[in-house]
Amino acid sequence: MLSFDDYRTIINEHLTDFIPETDSKAAVLSESMKYSLRVGGKRLRPALLLASCDFAGGDIGQALPYACSLEYIHTYSLIHDDLPAMDNDDLRRGKPTNHKVYGEDIAILAGDGLLNTAAEVMTGEVLRHSGDLIGMTRHASAAHEIMSRAGIRGMIGGQTADVKGEYMEANADLVRFIELHKTADLLTAPVRAGLMLAGADDEMLNDFTSYALNIGVAFQVLDDILDFVGDEKLIGKKVGKDQDLGKCNYVCVHGLEAAMEELHRLTSEAKLSLTKYGDDASFFISLADQLENREY
Ligand code: IPE
Ligand code: IPE
Ligand code: MG
Ligand code: MG
Ligand code: MG
Repeated sequence: MLSFDDYRTIINEHLTDFIPETDSKAAVLSESMKYSLRVGGKRLRPALLLASCDFAGGDIGQALPYACSLEYIHTYSLIHDDLPAMDNDDLRRGKPTNHKVYGEDIAILAGDGLLNTAAEVMTGEVLRHSGDLIGMTRHASAAHEIMSRAGIRGMIGGQTADVKGEYMEANADLVRFIELHKTADLLTAPVRAGLMLAGADDEMLNDFTSYALNIGVAFQVLDDILDFVGDEKLIGKKVGKDQDLGKCNYVCVHGLEAAMEELHRLTSEAKLSLTKYGDDASFFISLADQLENREY
């Protein structure tokens, strides 16, 4: 297996390779899609996809289009999340948000363009394997996993509860639903899709699903903590937004101290899911620790 930095380098080198050329009359669309992709980002989701495929003995070259597609979907979710109708943010990945640079109309279309491109790229990969039933089934499973976890029972459903949560009474149950769907689903999809591409068995899929859901929820708990106590220069987005918007998040429901404890509990739970893999799973164990201690 490679290091996180090596997987990230591969992603950064190839991230825009799968985006089709647009007609010059729609040039601003590709420009705005590529702006949000290239301004920054930790590349956590695509790196997880390559690493999971690699772990299970798959070919990371075959996983690359799926890894990039997932980053397109994640980036579209951020562009739309930042729009005035949603969180109304001016800063993302340390730079002006897409709609601040290109206007709301183009930002909406750039999000649509990224989501559609992901579907186009992944279905194209499935078709390329149509002569090989096992290969095609693995590719179709990975594509379906990504689209369904990004979908209305996944990220889009979580975002819906998040935006409506502003007007509901905040409670622990609602917060957990939001964390699981708006965030943990898009961190679970790459792990499962990577394993599926490599043909991993159900036992491995279950163990890694538990790992991913736990780091996924932990990731959002820490995002909520950083929204309270983070450093704008480090996180590259405005601090205190959730409070301004009256958001229902982990910290507002349970308090900062309980949030720190929950972050630690979830990280331990994630690592415990992979105990049986010993040192072979060290990439995932140290990633869980790094994510628990991240400042951005
Ligand atoms: C931000 O995700 C959205 C959340 C789910 C909290 P990241 O913190 O992974 O954002 P980038 O990709 O590094 O910008
Ligand atoms: C957004 O959650 C998660 C998405 C699906 C985009 P947040 O609204 O908390 O993300 P940030 O804090 O703006 O990155
Ligand atoms: Mg939001
Ligand atoms: Mg937001
Ligand atoms: Mg947030």
